[in-house]
Amino acid sequence: MANTTDTGVSVTDETTSDITVEAPTAAAPEAAPASTPVDPADLVFDVSDLSVYYGDFRAVRDVNMTVERNQITALIGPSGCGKSTVLRSFNRMNDLIPTARVTGDLIYRGVDLYDPRVDPVEVRRRIGMVFQKPNPFPKSIYDNVAYGPRIAGQKKGLDEVVESSLRKAALWDEVKDRLGDSAIGLSGGQQQRLSIARAIATQPEVLLMDEPCSALDPIATARIEELMAEIKSEYTILIVTHNMQQAARVSDRTAFFSVELDEHNDRRTGLLVEYTDTAKLFSNPDDERTENYITGRFG
Ligand SMILES: Nc1ncnc2c1ncn2[C@@H]1O[C@H](COP(=O)(O)OP(=O)(O)OP(=O)(O)O)[C@@H](O)[C@H]1O
Ligand SMILES: [Mg+2]
Repeated sequence: MANTTDTGVSVTDETTSDITVEAPTAAAPEAAPASTPVDPADLVFDVSDLSVYYGDFRAVRDVNMTVERNQITALIGPSGCGKSTVLRSFNRMNDLIPTARVTGDLIYRGVDLYDPRVDPVEVRRRIGMVFQKPNPFPKSIYDNVAYGPRIAGQKKGLDEVVESSLRKAALWDEVKDRLGDSAIGLSGGQQQRLSIARAIATQPEVLLMDEPCSALDPIATARIEELMAEIKSEYTILIVTHNMQQAARVSDRTAFFSVELDEHNDRRTGLLVEYTDTAKLFSNPDDERTENYITGRFG
């Protein structure tokens, strides 16, 4: 299996050749947004001119952004602006939608994620996803967490992986005496932390979270937010949220997406309007459209 280190990554496609990057040197300064320059060693994603289409419909365009290691990046904007679509493009989840097509460049650790030699299964192991609705498998708590490692062929040390993943997801103390019970019997907040434990169990570098708290009450939401702050030192996190307070509380950088009418086909296409430090985006945005959205005048 390919290794992740601080300095390099190799994305392995077992049927064809390896794509190996000794050091992430893909940080072309001119490709980065105008704000703070990124240290190449910290550059996890470098996205340029990304558009995502469903058939002929361009759902979202003009996505240019870099994502740095151990940062939390929030994606915000009105419904339909393409947040989930963009998030799914970060681990090739859109591949599972037959009409979906991506143009532009999405570079992960110096590797073009959409290179045909890249194995999407390996991508999704390194770049895990947590969905809006907790989605435990109808299996035991233990088997839910052990699922990914087992698929990857791991047989030994599963107890340790399950325990450490549940500890990181701040769920261990609540479930350690009933690991054999069905995960369906957990509360919504516990199920969402289980989903996080399941994603963490494959030792990803990145966690993508699509409105992970939207089905949770304020206490469970606070729990997930605390958890994000705790695990941030080990993971790079991208989170879609409709809750602007949440984006302001948890994230380091925020990307604001909006929608505009496409004159060619009379449909509303999403676009990335502004991407900057969270504190700046919420206090002193550069773009009037961002200002209107965060002050509640639009969306
Ligand atoms: N599987 C799909 N097939 C066709 N069009 C889709 C598909 N998924 C999303 N779209 C369209 O792409 C656009 C962006 O949708 P997306 O779900 O990414 O928006 P969003 O910002 O996540 O919205 P929300 O805040 O409501 O979750 C919308 O116009 C949507 O109708
Ligand atoms: Mg969405």
